[in-house]
Amino acid sequence: MSENIIYCYSGSGHCLDMARNIASRLGDTDIVLMRSFPEKTDATEAKRVGFIFPCYGGGLPGHVEQYLKVIKIAPDAYRFAVEQFAGYMGCGLHKIDEIVGLDYWNTISNHSTCIWLMPHSLSFPPTSKESAQARIDRKAMEVAAAVKAMKKSERKPPEKAFFALESKAFSKMHPRRVRKFWVNDACIACGTCARVCPRGNIELREKKPTFGTDCIGCLSCVQYCPKQAINVGKITEKRERFPNKNVKAADLTKKVIHID
Ligand SMILES: Cc1cc2nc3c(=O)[nH]c(=O)nc-3n(C[C@H](O)[C@H](O)[C@H](O)COP(=O)(O)O)c2cc1C
Repeated sequence: MSENIIYCYSGSGHCLDMARNIASRLGDTDIVLMRSFPEKTDATEAKRVGFIFPCYGGGLPGHVEQYLKVIKIAPDAYRFAVEQFAGYMGCGLHKIDEIVGLDYWNTISNHSTCIWLMPHSLSFPPTSKESAQARIDRKAMEVAAAVKAMKKSERKPPEKAFFALESKAFSKMHPRRVRKFWVNDACIACGTCARVCPRGNIELREKKPTFGTDCIGCLSCVQYCPKQAINVGKITEKRERFPNKNVKAADLTKKVIHID
């Protein structure tokens, strides 16, 4: 068992990159991926337990809220969370605090990965891709130092009740939105989309990806397609993808990543 466990949800790699960065500064850390049911739910031997995740539709992504309820943490373990968002933090940290009780939390704005809604360059404050990455790296350093020292936040994460409603409505829309997914002629049937989908919702039929309805909206298939062939409606064909430069599609498919 590792000294630290970080539970991480990441669709386009930015939260996973941050989790790896923090873990390498803490040492002896298991990063448990959370786009599907977590491989490890017993964290009772860990001294520090963290959660790193993006804001989706004003709340927690995928089935994270459900999964959090089954994770076992020792009563005296230090608990921390970091949220990435593009424009607003929503209610995700408050939800995590309600479920696990946080000692420390932090947030950072990154470019948007929700490209059917916004071009990726919308972050707060606006910045280039390169300086957004540098800003996230600095934040990872700050969080790692705080977590190492087991620093406590002075206040609780804000509740932001409106976003709880947005989040409920948003998560119900993914299965319907998946009907708008389509594949253009650039597709080479490499199967990356099917491999990176955490729900097994994509199948290659006659050398073309086909989509079922079990979608959590992570957009890994859209962001990691090497030919940018997967689109949601019309607008995404014109929009630049923004997967994290340090995280490969194969990294997202791992269940647990150990960092010494
Ligand atoms: C489906 C989806 C919904 C999102 N919803 C929000 C949102 O409501 N508010 C916000 O500020 N950012 C939102 N974002 C932006 C992400 O929180 C942000 O880009 C984050 O850095 C992505 O992290 P990841 O690369 O680890 O998935 C959304 C992104 C996606 C893919």
